Amino acid sequence: MKIRRMASLKTADEFKNYLRENNITLPFAENTAALNTPCQLEGKTIGNRLAILPMEGWDCTSNGHPTDLVRRRWGNFGRSGAKLIWGGEAAAVRMDGRANPHQLLINADTLPDIADLRQLLVQTHKEHYGRTDDLLVGLQLTHSGRFASPHELKKREPVILYHHPLLDKKIGIAADYPVITDDEIARLEEDYIRAAELAYQAGFDFVDIKHCHGYLGHEFLSAVERPGKYGGSLGNRTRFCSEIVQGIKAKTPGIGIGVRLSAFDFLPFQPGADGKGEPIKYDGYYPYGFGGDGTGTGIDLAEPILFLKKLLSLGVKLVCITAGSPYYNPHIQRPALFPPVDAYQPPEDPLVGTARLINTTAALKKAVPELTVIGSGYSYLQEWLPNVAAGVVAGGEADFVGYGRQVLSYPEFATDVLNGKTLKKNKICRTFSDCTTAPRLGLVSGCFPLDEYYQGLPDYACLACSKKAGEKRIITAKPFSPHS
Ligand SMILES: Cc1cc2nc3c(=O)[nH]c(=O)nc-3n(C[C@H](O)[C@H](O)[C@H](O)COP(=O)(O)O)c2cc1C
Repeated sequence: MKIRRMASLKTADEFKNYLRENNITLPFAENTAALNTPCQLEGKTIGNRLAILPMEGWDCTSNGHPTDLVRRRWGNFGRSGAKLIWGGEAAAVRMDGRANPHQLLINADTLPDIADLRQLLVQTHKEHYGRTDDLLVGLQLTHSGRFASPHELKKREPVILYHHPLLDKKIGIAADYPVITDDEIARLEEDYIRAAELAYQAGFDFVDIKHCHGYLGHEFLSAVERPGKYGGSLGNRTRFCSEIVQGIKAKTPGIGIGVRLSAFDFLPFQPGADGKGEPIKYDGYYPYGFGGDGTGTGIDLAEPILFLKKLLSLGVKLVCITAGSPYYNPHIQRPALFPPVDAYQPPEDPLVGTARLINTTAALKKAVPELTVIGSGYSYLQEWLPNVAAGVVAGGEADFVGYGRQVLSYPEFATDVLNGKTLKKNKICRTFSDCTTAPRLGLVSGCFPLDEYYQGLPDYACLACSKKAGEKRIITAKPFSPHS
């Protein structure tokens, strides 16, 4: 497999020929006008079809307050020109749910700062675009489950629903490690319901009950072997989500509810002898991949469709589709040419992963057209993102196109696309994955290759030294302290 760099596909014909030669199917519109069309959602008109996906930065204080780096990022989300801000970034609903000691936390103490953060985003948007009545801003609510490291970066404090034969080993969870009880789950639901109330007080239009990327919400969906009322049948595995949605509707009827869903999942991948990713060997039927067909690398959307229909029946109108997990199969979620430090060389052309996500999202939108669907994983498309995105929207394959890494390197990407400007090539994300490598090393996240602001941080030197030496740890002195 010879992967061509996207930047070398200089004309639309070259791009389309490359897709054809590699049997990759993606929509493509010559004209990007579809992205400028408004979208109606429950009486509100949202100004365009671009969305900013949640992008955390591992840069909050140790007690979960935003820092200047977080404020800068959210200001950039507002400046982007996209009219839907899906979640901002993951905010843990309680301390033990944080994925890292610098994750945002939502509670009574952090509420004023989080309200200011939203206000900063909205104000920045207003200064650039003159209006905000057509802007929709949500907050993503999370508990990190088996990937929780709330106090120390290298110390996992997992909260698990069941023992997973491969992930337990990968993370170092002992066979007798306790699983969360049904009573504790009921208490956790209360935390989500309270967090949604706080998010409403902070002015957010909606909350996202995160069900993706291997975190706790997502783990419920694959808890096929868990006994009791939260495991086994699909009804039981989606009970956590249903009860939270019902609780929020009862307590805070004014706030909208969305769900970000990993709609399919594969086996965990690891580097093979040649460094390329390959699935960890697993004999027989693999039941732990929600939306999987049992082979570990195939898709069956029957359950995801039933889940989406259930969400609709509960009054949830917004869903954002993603896949897999950044911890064990990042190539299906954030296709990249250059892997992060803890991953593997691409096992497929990243365009294959991009198309898999886009086409799966289209199938889900077709199956449940009443939902407003946001797609993910477009950044790898680089120069061709606008045309593919416009093709998706024009064809009704998603209502919004969401992107993440591109907003870090090129904050005004959306506005340039929407205004038909020539894209600034030196700002386009080339998927170097430093935004993931840096936090894996204990540094803050950001676009180190292209955002000069990050090149001025001490973290930049730490990252550069560690990468040069091929290290998987920091080998230089003190990184930036988000506390300062
Ligand atoms: C640095 C970084 C931070 C992220 N933070 C979050 C997050 O807080 N919540 C979430 O659901 N996804 C998060 N993601 C995943 C993105 O939202 C998105 O799904 C992924 O990057 C693929 O989209 P893209 O190709 O446009 O980057 C993060 C990804 C990266 C690279």
